[in-house]
Amino acid sequence: MEQKLSRQVALITGASSGIGAGVAKAMAASGATVVLNYPVDATRPAAEAILADITAAGGKGMTCQADVSKEDEVVRMFKDVVSAYGTVDILVNNAGLQRDSAFTEMTLDQWNTVIGVNLTGQFLCAREAVREFLRRGMQPEKSRALGKIICMSSVHEIIPWAGHANYAASKGGIHMLMQTISQEFAPKKIRINAIGPGAIKTPINHAAWATPEAEAKLEELIPYGRVGVVEDIGAAAVWLASDDSDYVNGVTLFVDGGMTLFPGFSTNG
Ligand code: BGC
Repeated sequence: MEQKLSRQVALITGASSGIGAGVAKAMAASGATVVLNYPVDATRPAAEAILADITAAGGKGMTCQADVSKEDEVVRMFKDVVSAYGTVDILVNNAGLQRDSAFTEMTLDQWNTVIGVNLTGQFLCAREAVREFLRRGMQPEKSRALGKIICMSSVHEIIPWAGHANYAASKGGIHMLMQTISQEFAPKKIRINAIGPGAIKTPINHAAWATPEAEAKLEELIPYGRVGVVEDIGAAAVWLASDDSDYVNGVTLFVDGGMTLFPGFSTNG
């Protein structure tokens, strides 16, 4: 059966857990061949387990190691994917992490680690993806676009976040990286957009929803009244990768239960 992403190869960075794993499952269920990137050997079993779930559900794909903050590893990963599957059609620039700290205590290492993975990693992967799209050329039987890139941003691309200066700076940077390269490559029929997740139940924010009290406090920030799940992001990613969004370029789609509506102002201001 023809599905939204049939015959397309989707590379998802940081797919061994959290949102990346959820997006990989959603794209595989929509017919894509998925490449599950994981950063280091220690995370390989987790990536293999996600791939096993995907193949058990009738999907297909492979895992691929690369630390996205390292140029040589990113270049090698794209070579591996192209030699395995011929090309890449969709890049989900998802790999990201937090190294939280009060600003006055923040070390350069915490700053560099977050900027390196979250922002430089997205630059390196997007650059290799665009190079591959241009090399491969149009394949109209697969998609109306030459290629699609989805940058995983955050509500913190617009909401300042005390104690997380490195993370918020990386997400603000992703916004301008995404829009600038979208402007540069829309004429070549490459669609580049972002998703801005709000609070989604994953390991990155476990403490924020691990107890009923914590979850209730978190929900004060979410007008829609529930913490998100990775399936919420997976569905948005499939839409942004498919021709259903063919006229969508350079936007951040917030998937956040209304977190960016500044709910504090509903009873103040
Ligand atoms: C962060 C989470 C946080 C959420 C809402 C995300 O980008 O990674 O830790 O819960 O934003 O603040």
